[in-house]
Amino acid sequence: MTQSRPEPPKGTNAAATAEGGGESLAQAVARRRNFAIISHPDAGKTTLTEKLLLYGGAIQQAGAVKAKGEQRKVTSDWMEIEKQRGISITSTVLQFDYAGSTINLLDTPGHQDFSEDTYRTLAAADNAVMLEDAAKGLEPQTRKLFEVCRLRHLPIFTFINKMDRPGREPLALIDEIESELGLACWPVNWPIGGGDRFRGVIDRRSRTVILFERAERGRQSAERTLAIGDPELAQLVEPELLGQALEELELLDGAGAELDLELVHAGDLSPVFFGSAMTNFGVRPFLDAFLDLAQSPIARQSSEGNIDPLRPDFSGFVFKLQANMDPRHRDRVAFVRVCSGRFDKDMTVRHARSGRTLRLSRPQKLFGQDREVVEDAYPGDVIGLNNPGMFAIGDTLYSGARVEYEGIPCFSPEIFAWLRNPNPSAFKSFRKGVNELREEGAVQVLYDTDASKRDPILAAVGQLQLEVVLYRLENEYGVKARLEPLDFTVARWVSGGWAALEAVGRVFNCKTVRDPWDRPVLLFRNTWNLNQLQEDHPELALAAVAPVVSGTEPIAL
Ligand code: G4P
Repeated sequence: MTQSRPEPPKGTNAAATAEGGGESLAQAVARRRNFAIISHPDAGKTTLTEKLLLYGGAIQQAGAVKAKGEQRKVTSDWMEIEKQRGISITSTVLQFDYAGSTINLLDTPGHQDFSEDTYRTLAAADNAVMLEDAAKGLEPQTRKLFEVCRLRHLPIFTFINKMDRPGREPLALIDEIESELGLACWPVNWPIGGGDRFRGVIDRRSRTVILFERAERGRQSAERTLAIGDPELAQLVEPELLGQALEELELLDGAGAELDLELVHAGDLSPVFFGSAMTNFGVRPFLDAFLDLAQSPIARQSSEGNIDPLRPDFSGFVFKLQANMDPRHRDRVAFVRVCSGRFDKDMTVRHARSGRTLRLSRPQKLFGQDREVVEDAYPGDVIGLNNPGMFAIGDTLYSGARVEYEGIPCFSPEIFAWLRNPNPSAFKSFRKGVNELREEGAVQVLYDTDASKRDPILAAVGQLQLEVVLYRLENEYGVKARLEPLDFTVARWVSGGWAALEAVGRVFNCKTVRDPWDRPVLLFRNTWNLNQLQEDHPELALAAVAPVVSGTEPIAL
């Protein structure tokens, strides 16, 4: 059984000392943990996030961060539309220190219409926390995001939340994950009771019972730890509840599985935790065990093979772009995940796609809406760079020998609409807004093949994504645009380009448009029409997602 904290990664440069700070690159990497939370809306992601931050000392009183209804606002929610709707749309990064570790929490939007944004964020994560509501078990959005984690082989830590409320049987919840997701589970702790009679958890590794008392809303709960054999336990916990929990534990132990860190890190075994974020049951034990079991920043695939985080030269990739994060500054920020080496303020790096050299003079660390200039950053960290319009999602920045990380593919859009600009005198702002929002990946943009039809077609995964574009065009660019829905639900990229499309002659029951890289895209009303075309022209290779583009600039509106 492997349970200890992972050793600092071994590599030829493990002893390389970061200048000035006294901490070596290997030490900085070893104490870093980076993760994203995946969940279905309402499972408690906001609440868990705020409690984790509380343990990190990042905010004083968690309740101050999230209030009811109108006032609802979390440190990581900052856009006006998010506040209005009480949903989390954009992803930001929260960094905090706890127990000698530096933790980067990559916040992901909760709403399913923004799964594309979550997908990109998961590309920057080394670990994922899958959050479930104990009463609901697996929900659709969790399943969808789980699939993305699985594709990326991310280690998945499961937190079963809301144990203070009546929920499903713990064994049934575990069984559901194992049988429906095909993900083996290893409960790290096991609940004693549930709902009104939730008494705490048994830590399986230390064979101790952690008792919880409900805390005043927003505060850390008092907690007591006793050995399983402690006679005092009988006075503190109803014997039948303890008896049942111990019986279930025996059953789990009897099943014989071990907490094998290799399997955890390969994404094949999920350590499972039970708790209640709102009342602070089990959050600290979760955080402690997570730091122990999660993987520190890992090597990443690039054009030059796997790049070790201990490679002394800096490298990283852009996983998110965001315009107008701070409306007072009207700026554009590129979020870069550091993959190797130490990043220093004022550093000169190369932009792999264009080959250009740039000096990064105002790198920022972001914390929700607050930001400060970073002096340095290490693998696993995320920095915000001012984006003068040159960065695109997936771009690599590096120093030293050239590397280029694998790009991040897009989701296949399912909703399409003309974007009309009713006011020709506002065309300049309209164009700027469309181009910038496309660049940051807020929406995909397609163009009619008939050049006289200048209005762009917006392509999105969810309706709310389109509404956000309209809202932002108005609020950030002063343009009141209008959507005119198009009756398509499927998009396919023609793999062989225009030549392949011309070779098959006329195509029926679909509309041909072009993407910003002047590649043909076919839009279909439904999959039936798509299947028909494929039957008629099996030689025409079609792709559901846009191939990643490298080296060429997109056509702007
Ligand atoms: P989300 O970000 O995943 O969408 O979920 P969020 O944290 O906003 O939580 C959704 C609701 O579930 C909130 O209630 C929250 O208080 C509640 N919740 C979260 N964790 C727990 C828990 O451990 N136990 C219980 N009983 N409830 C929990 P709400 O009514 O929507 O908001 P509020 O009135 O509590 O602010």
